[in-house]
Amino acid sequence: MRLANRVIGITGGASGIGRACALAAAAEGADLALGDIDADGLEETAAKIEGIGRRAVTRIVDVTADDDQEALVELAVSELGGLDGWVGSAGTGSGQFALEHTREEWRRVMDVNVEGVFFGAQAAARHMVATGSGSIVNVASMYGQRAVKQRAAYCTSKASVVMLTQVMALEVAEHGVRVNALAPGYTDTPLFNAGKERDSVEMDRLIAHVPFKRLAVPEEIAGAAVFLLSDEAGFVTGHILTVDGGWVAHGPRE
Ligand SMILES: NC(=O)c1ccc[n+]([C@@H]2O[C@H](COP(=O)([O-])OP(=O)(O)OC[C@H]3O[C@@H](n4cnc5c(N)ncnc54)[C@H](O)[C@@H]3O)[C@@H](O)[C@H]2O)c1
Repeated sequence: MRLANRVIGITGGASGIGRACALAAAAEGADLALGDIDADGLEETAAKIEGIGRRAVTRIVDVTADDDQEALVELAVSELGGLDGWVGSAGTGSGQFALEHTREEWRRVMDVNVEGVFFGAQAAARHMVATGSGSIVNVASMYGQRAVKQRAAYCTSKASVVMLTQVMALEVAEHGVRVNALAPGYTDTPLFNAGKERDSVEMDRLIAHVPFKRLAVPEEIAGAAVFLLSDEAGFVTGHILTVDGGWVAHGPRE
């Protein structure tokens, strides 16, 4: 087991990629501290983890709120005995054109995707630096690596996750803490499928641009997260692990 008796904190643990990371970590022997704004989803994930035979604690966490993520770290330490890994998966989508973008929407996306990820990683890293080890995985996106129309705020937010990950990785490396980003491609989750409900033709067009011609399943993203959390990635830090079916590698579209 690659994460035997480790404690992993996960935001966005109620759904999609965050839930898949939680289940994959539990299957590798970890106990989980889960945060999200979705109470029902959290309980569902926790029940699945207990079904695997591992422990799960949950807390309502809004990653835009000042102290919620620190409280999740404290919960992990007090109830599960520590914090060895952290996955910042809480995130939000956005689809405004640049020239029509409102400040309100810009700030909403930045609050969740940038500040939320940064201050979650900070809370986790403060604990890990004190203990001298740990691994943080910030969920970015392939959209943080390529410009996509109608995604000014989202692409910018995910590019920011890449950079904040790399800066933090440099600052905490000497304390034995690793910080990496995971950059998923299109993944079969409620977030992606909400876009599909709005415009299924457009979504089919997007999938046609993936060399594999399909969505990732959340478990394929979670497998990469488990690698980054595990000792197998012991010399990996400041890295952006893209799991996108070849989308970023693609040159000009025909
Ligand atoms: N699905 C994709 O195609 C895809 C592709 C690239 C990157 N991502 C990224 O993966 C991450 C997870 O997305 P997903 O596809 O699993 O979506 P999802 O909607 O299934 O899960 C996101 C979770 O984040 C939670 N959340 C949203 N705002 C929050 C807040 N303020 N505080 C706490 N929790 C909050 C939601 O309640 C939800 O449980 C996001 O960062 C997303 O940008 C997704």
